[in-house]
Amino acid sequence: MSPFHKKILLIGPSGQVGWELLRCLQPLGQVIVAGRNNQIDLDLAQVDSIRPVIREIKPDLIINAAAYTAVDKAETEAQLAYQINGTAPGILAEESLRLKNTILIHYSTDYVFDGQHSQPYTELDPVKPIGVYGASKLAGEQAIQAVGGCYFILRTAWVYGLRGKNFLLTMQRLAQEREELKVVNDQIGAPTWSRLIAEATACLSAQLFSPFIQDIEEFIGIYHLTCGGQTSWYEFAKMIIEPAEKQPRLLPITTAEYPTPAKRPAYSVLANEKLANTFGIALPAWDKALKICLMR
Ligand SMILES: NC(=O)c1ccc[n+]([C@@H]2O[C@H](COP(=O)([O-])OP(=O)(O)OC[C@H]3O[C@@H](n4cnc5c(N)ncnc54)[C@H](OP(=O)(O)O)[C@@H]3O)[C@@H](O)[C@H]2O)c1
Repeated sequence: MSPFHKKILLIGPSGQVGWELLRCLQPLGQVIVAGRNNQIDLDLAQVDSIRPVIREIKPDLIINAAAYTAVDKAETEAQLAYQINGTAPGILAEESLRLKNTILIHYSTDYVFDGQHSQPYTELDPVKPIGVYGASKLAGEQAIQAVGGCYFILRTAWVYGLRGKNFLLTMQRLAQEREELKVVNDQIGAPTWSRLIAEATACLSAQLFSPFIQDIEEFIGIYHLTCGGQTSWYEFAKMIIEPAEKQPRLLPITTAEYPTPAKRPAYSVLANEKLANTFGIALPAWDKALKICLMR
């Protein structure tokens, strides 16, 4: 086998991002999938089961697309959320380090910020999650950083796609079912298509595997990876239902009018310049990406 043909362990291939990754990563090497009910059985909540899997496979790259992502439910399932989002990533980092040259790519979230900014958050801005989900994801970032090794943490946001559980599919369904939809208009972020996250991750992986990369350590760290621009859930919903045959009435409401168990940041736009300047990878504006996603 060519020395350039790598072994990639993809954890969480059934999720929005994981599903796209399984397709985008194929040109880069042998992709082995692990998760609940997968080729390799792996439950990140069973933290003792993680090490044997990594030691058996000895991957060149681990991509962890698995996470506890139920933002509201996390408020009452904090222990589980912390195990999957906080403890498990730390173990993945330890095992990557143990294998010496293994790279770890892990995803985090805009919800590590409190949302009090009025301009995009950079990787250097202080974190301050306001809910359990964000806090558990931050614990994962910190666990990986504490271990060190060759890690890349990609913070993304407002993920949607044509599969799984997400805002786009919910709005499309509700548009069919209801005459009127009320959507929050005072939370601002950048909707990001899962396909583009996967493609950007594949581009990044190809560069990290490249024999031309000089000193990979220099690039280790946290990077923001979202579509460009910013919008509200209401404006996002408007564009989602625009092409639909049946058009419900869309009403903007405030966060206060739509109480949820978990608080969400009012503003969580991320600045993506670091990834663009370091690796030349930049996603299109959110509205352009959405149009492409919805093209038939
Ligand atoms: N969704 C968003 O809006 C959003 C926003 C910002 C950041 N992110 C981050 O982006 C990454 C990908 O998110 P996503 O939207 O693709 O997630 P998703 O669609 O909710 O998928 C989550 C994945 O994690 C797996 N998983 C959950 N618990 C597990 C466990 N105990 N053991 C093994 N696998 C488990 C799920 O497998 P099962 O099929 O077995 O449940 C599924 O494959 C995550 O790190 C997430 O925190 C997401």
